[in-house]
Amino acid sequence: MRQTITLLGIESSCDDTAAAVVRDGPEGRQILGAVVEGQTSLHAAFGGVVPEIAARAHAERIDGCVAQAMMAAGLGFGDLDGIAVTAGPGLIGGVLAGVMCGKGLSAATGLPLIGVNHLAGHALTPRLTDGLDFPYLMLLVSGGHCQYLRVDGPDRFTRLGGSIDDAPGEAFDKVAKVLGLPQPGGPNVEAEARKGDPRRFALPRPLLDRPGCDMSFSGLKTALLRTRDKVIAQKGGLTRTDRADLCAGFQAAVVDVIAEKTRRALAIAPVATLAVAGGVAANQAIRAALETVCTETGVQFIAPPLSLCTDNAAMIAWAGIERFRMGEYDDLTLSARPRWPLDQTSPALLGYGKKGAKL
Ligand code: KG4
Ligand code: ZN
Repeated sequence: MRQTITLLGIESSCDDTAAAVVRDGPEGRQILGAVVEGQTSLHAAFGGVVPEIAARAHAERIDGCVAQAMMAAGLGFGDLDGIAVTAGPGLIGGVLAGVMCGKGLSAATGLPLIGVNHLAGHALTPRLTDGLDFPYLMLLVSGGHCQYLRVDGPDRFTRLGGSIDDAPGEAFDKVAKVLGLPQPGGPNVEAEARKGDPRRFALPRPLLDRPGCDMSFSGLKTALLRTRDKVIAQKGGLTRTDRADLCAGFQAAVVDVIAEKTRRALAIAPVATLAVAGGVAANQAIRAALETVCTETGVQFIAPPLSLCTDNAAMIAWAGIERFRMGEYDDLTLSARPRWPLDQTSPALLGYGKKGAKL
């Protein structure tokens, strides 16, 4: 029988301060307590995440999040087997705040410290939520990440492709901005798109003419801006219908690109399951397209609950448990890494994403 392992996880790589306690044992994989404190309101006036503000907020809130998660779990530090903390990639000030907290707790309690790659946290989540076995294909789509990963083990990731510029969430946010919709843009663009005609404006499907599963969303965003300007020049302004049609056209282009690139990723890595994570996985049109591709190709589709698709600490605790089971620990020399590709062998992507260098 597998030994029961209980870890505290800490996450602070972008704009969510989070802590969670996760247990893996004969009773299954359980999230015993989880807290996420977002920072949207702190950054709202700046149109994006301000790294210094984020770092300070993490440093101020992280102890409180840990205390709340431990209280929710009903456990003391003596009940834990270790402390897992995001050690990168992400905004360096935030990652440092988490790593310092993890080191302090490890030094005070004597518990082992486990540095976790944030992207591994996302990529291993379907094993926490659905008990998924290796291998599987993972599509990470958020405001800061966009990549296809073949996952063969807790530390065996192969990046098959990804966005060479903007992440899709970032493109949704920029489109919302140029159309006067509030942030975060994704849900608002999706709501408008539901009312619009996706065929009225012919927007490009970038990189479909190239083999492989790399994507690009920057040119699509510029094409949308030009189309908007053309409508304004012709009519003197945008009507509600124009705006809805622009959103529908943009979303349809993103959906087509993701659907086709997913088909290609599954052809490159023919596995039994596709899993998705990241805030953009909330988009119903994208989800439906991924489900259709999976049905066509006879592949199982897994989308963890949204609270575990977006940034959280349960995924960090879980990835820590996977490393713990392999006998891998860190010590107080653990350093924060702003860049930390999961797949060290693939060439680096060009894009950064608005939330910092994630890859
Ligand atoms: O994973 P997440 O919470 O944070 C990181 O980027 O790490 O993802 C947030 C991103 C934002 O860009 C947001 O606009 C996008 O996910 N998003 C959506 C939807 N809901 C959130 N994009 C498209 N459609 C949605 N329904
Ligand atoms: Zn993330």
